[in-house]
Parts: sequence; C-alpha cells; structure tokens
Amino acid sequence: MLNCAVIGATGYTGSELTRLLLAHRNVRITHLTTRQEKHIPLAEVLPSIPKDVDLRITPYDFEDVKKKADLVFLCLPHTEAMTTGDRFLQAGKIVIDLSADFRLKNPALYPEWYGVDHAFPARLRQAVYGLCEVNRKKIKKADLIANPGCYPTGPSLALWPLFKKKMIRTDFVIINAASGVTGAGKKLVAATQYCEANENYNAYKVNRHQHIPEIEQNCSEAAGKEVLITFIPHLLPVSRGILSTIYVEPSKKTLTGEAIRKVLEAVYSQDPFVRIKPAGQFPSLKDVRGTNFCDIGVSLDSRTGRLVILTAIDNLLKGASGQAVQNMNIRCGFPEGAGFV
Ligand SMILES: NC(=O)c1ccc[n+]([C@@H]2O[C@H](COP(=O)([O-])OP(=O)(O)OC[C@H]3O[C@@H](n4cnc5c(N)ncnc54)[C@H](OP(=O)(O)O)[C@@H]3O)[C@@H](O)[C@H]2O)c1
Repeated sequence: MLNCAVIGATGYTGSELTRLLLAHRNVRITHLTTRQEKHIPLAEVLPSIPKDVDLRITPYDFEDVKKKADLVFLCLPHTEAMTTGDRFLQAGKIVIDLSADFRLKNPALYPEWYGVDHAFPARLRQAVYGLCEVNRKKIKKADLIANPGCYPTGPSLALWPLFKKKMIRTDFVIINAASGVTGAGKKLVAATQYCEANENYNAYKVNRHQHIPEIEQNCSEAAGKEVLITFIPHLLPVSRGILSTIYVEPSKKTLTGEAIRKVLEAVYSQDPFVRIKPAGQFPSLKDVRGTNFCDIGVSLDSRTGRLVILTAIDNLLKGASGQAVQNMNIRCGFPEGAGFV
C-alpha cells in the first residue's frame, strides 16, 4: 500500500483527488489537510462518499504528514506550493504538485507571469513535467512531478506530436479555450459567482493568462525552437470541462487533414486516456465529463489551408486530479488506469 497525503483537501482539485484515491486499491490515505483549525468530516466537502468512510480533513501538520506519508499531493494555490514542496522533498517524499510552482523551467518567467520570484529555482531543473503520454519515461523516476495546468493539457497533447514531426508551422498558433467555472477554484471571486457567470460567455486575461508560457514551453520543446502562441481563455457557465479550439497551419501544402489525424491516432494508439475522434467528428464536454479522457478532433479547411484541432477534457480530471493519479500510477508502477472506473 502506498501512503498518500492530500494537502489542500477542501478545494476542488483536493476533493476530486480524494474521491479518486478512495477508490484506488493500492493507496491508503494518511492525511487530508486544511489551514483551518478545526477537523472537518470529509462528507461535508465530498458528500458523495460512502457512509462507512469515516475520514476527516485535519489541520496541516508537516511533521505528522512526514511521519506517515510516502507520497504527497499538493493542491494549493500557485506560489503557496513552492516552500511546502521543497520541505517534503527534503524529507525524502515523492511530491506531485498540482499548482504551477514547478512547471516552468525558466525561473525568470515566475515574476513575469506569477508575480513572485521562484524561491527554489534548482527544483525547477529537478521537476519532471507530468504530461503523462509525453514524459512517461521521466515520470517513472521522478520525485518531483509538476502536474500540468488545465488549459495546457489538451492543446499540448494535440500539438506535441505535430511539432515533433514538423507537420505544422511554428509561427502561427492560436488557441481559444473555454473553461467551466471550477477551473477558477473554490475561493470566492466576483467573476465566478452565479449571477456574473450564468448565461454569460466572456474572454478574460486576454493575452496575459499565466498558462501562456507553459503552453509555449511545451510547444517549443517539441518543435526544438521557440514557439510563441496567442491564447485566449473564456469562462463558460458550466461546472467543469475545457474545450479548446486550436488554429495552426500545416508545414507543407501537400499534407491532408486525414494524414494529420492518422498521425495523432497512431501516436496515441496505446494510450488509455487519449481518444482521437473519427474524421468529421469533434469532441464535446459531455463526452469527457467525469472522465480522465482527452478527446481530440481534426479538420483541415481546404479553402484557407488552416488546420483546426479541437480538444476536450474535464478540467478537474485530465486537467488536474485525474492526471495527478495517472502520474502517481506511472511513478509507482501501478497500472496506468488504476483508480479510474
Ligand atoms: N481547478 C482546476 O480546474 C485546476 C486545474 C489544474 C490545476 N489547478 C491548480 O491546482 C491548485 C488547487 O486548485 P483548486 O481549484 O483546488 O483551488 P481551490 O478550490 O481554491 O482550493 C485550494 C486549496 O488550498 C487551500 N489554501 C488556500 N489558500 C491557501 C494558502 N494561502 N496556503 C495554504 N493553503 C491554502 C484551501 O484550503 P483551506 O482554505 O481549507 O486551507 C483549499 O483546500 C491551484 O494551484 C490551481 O491552479 C486547478
């Protein structure tokens, strides 16, 4: 049995992760933690758990977690996970961080996009970016896994093989993405309150969303040269799910949409959680809700020569806690699909 702790268990990713870990036969949950001073019955945060599960979310106590847990999931806000992650790594634990604190390789990007200097830049070199299908080999040996962001996951899975195989141009990438409201976390923010979000659809953080450098890092690594992107996130009035529409251009006029679709199909043929839609079919949020799937659909517009790729994920699963469990499975030698129905 692997002893696991979830730090920040009262939030959306923490509670979704707890739900998955409860169903995982190789895992024992040692701690679910909060900054609050009182003990919180898990059922208050996660009412769907079976009646006989008598777990509590308890005040965070580093020494106690250190004593009992082998692997620690950090479900904390950006910039709050750096120090906690470093302490658990010093204590010899495996750390899977769901925040952005260990995702970017270049420390100079943190003040620009997250408003803070990185407190432990050496950890950025140590961290393995946990995009499971791409970095599986490295994840197997990693003690610090930077779980990918929700917005970057779908576009990165779609674009990685196409950049790697030089099938698309590096100078034209536009991504429009729409996320359900849980993407913003559980904390109270005016823009995500019911009356603001309901029956609305709006762009936000236009050209300045913090996931831009992460997607650019992934595209650039795959392409072997710097790729800059235009990324426009939108708030969609649903609870969960991200649909991304990606506009790129094939590197050769002779490439057909079907050839590109078939390449993606071949690349992901052995991956349990990436599904390439048949020609003429496209992903939708309902198909991936409550699952760890990333669905991808492809269409080449023969009039304009532009390639449109659509991806859909559940932001709390493949975009966060599901991918975190998949990373744990890879790292700990469990079947990659363990813990998912
Ligand atoms: N939501 C998504 O779709 C999604 C997807 C991918 C990645 N992420 C990332 O995952 C992390 C968690 O996201 P979330 O959506 O679960 O957020 P959330 O719902 O706001 O939960 C954050 C958790 O952290 C605790 N917390 C809040 N402020 C803290 C602080 N200053 N110091 C220590 N603990 C604090 C909160 O618990 P207490 O107040 O009880 O202590 C809560 O359990 C974030 O870094 C987020 O960017 C989120």
